[in-house]
Amino acid sequence: NQAAKRLAHIADHILAPMSAPSSSRAAKVAVLGASGGIGQPLSMLLKTSPRVGELSLYDVANTPGVAADLGHINTGSSIKGYVGPDQLPEALQGCDLVVIPAGIPRKPGMTRDDLFNINASIVAGLCQAVATHCPQAWVAIISNPVNSTVPIAAEVMKRAGAYDPKKLFGVTTLDVVRAEKFISEINKVDPKDVSVPVIGGHAGITIVPLLSQSQPPLKLSEDELAKLTSRIQNAGTEVVEAKQGAGSATLSMAYAAARFADACLRAQAGEDVVEYAFVQSSVLPNVPFLASKLRLGSQGTVQELGLGPLSSAEQRNIDAMTPELLGSIKKGIEFVEKQG
Ligand code: NAI
Repeated sequence: NQAAKRLAHIADHILAPMSAPSSSRAAKVAVLGASGGIGQPLSMLLKTSPRVGELSLYDVANTPGVAADLGHINTGSSIKGYVGPDQLPEALQGCDLVVIPAGIPRKPGMTRDDLFNINASIVAGLCQAVATHCPQAWVAIISNPVNSTVPIAAEVMKRAGAYDPKKLFGVTTLDVVRAEKFISEINKVDPKDVSVPVIGGHAGITIVPLLSQSQPPLKLSEDELAKLTSRIQNAGTEVVEAKQGAGSATLSMAYAAARFADACLRAQAGEDVVEYAFVQSSVLPNVPFLASKLRLGSQGTVQELGLGPLSSAEQRNIDAMTPELLGSIKKGIEFVEKQG
């Protein structure tokens, strides 16, 4: 099945360093926020990917050290660290994919929306630079709150005349990775044999797992399904609390972002790829951005594949989260409008 193929692909291509694929040119990939908790392990995983030819590490601090360290890994890609806004244009020049984990993470007691004020400006500034220096690049946004930062990115790029909705993604892969892992534990199967849609957004109740479509099927009571749904929605908070103030998910996020980056690079190389992400959407009426299952091709999103058959509980969860998701999208758009 799709999930098994996808994970086998990651095992072959990301986690096992090997020679570059012969079918296509290796890509230039930039990580913006590369010195951070996510940025460093993500950069390491990208350094081991044969699809990456040039890795560009940008942050406001410490990237020369991270680049020097990763540069000793004996894979084919070249790597360079760039620090501060003066070096951002060169970091972005010629990029095929820009992954953005820049910004502050949650501490215990914080929601993703509490990060809005700081991260909104950071994402807006970085996307302005992307629009200027590599308008053709695909952009994958990790910085929270994703439900707002993706609309912010879209709005900024629109104003710069460089918005292509097919190439802008909010990274929600970690929600899918978590759901696959938790279900594999319940069903006592290898996670690579699990597939499950997780749709909606990337914060609390806006994360909507469609457990009725789990493969292999879950044989749980309504009550158990509700508990598992809640665990997937609050999995990020599990990590925030366990880290006791030292940040949020970084290592599992880096893994998930590497899986998403691999999906993008395979699609750019001409493969037919199916993956989840938060994008400009027409799946639900009047919901302009949504995470759902996408078909990706060499020019970006080719098709939104829809939600599939929903249980009544899943339909209720979608109805319940829609006002919050719409509020977060609106907040992002208004942030850019206020900047003038
Ligand atoms: P961190 O604080 O460890 O790293 C953030 C990095 O961004 C730092 O190195 C910082 O110097 C850099 N940075 C700040 N302003 C910048 C700017 N203007 N340009 C470039 N770099 C800049 O944070 P961490 O743990 O890596 O998290 C990063 C973001 O990812 C947070 O917003 C967090 O909420 C989000 N996140 C998203 C997830 C998702 O599923 N989409 C999951 C986990 C975290």
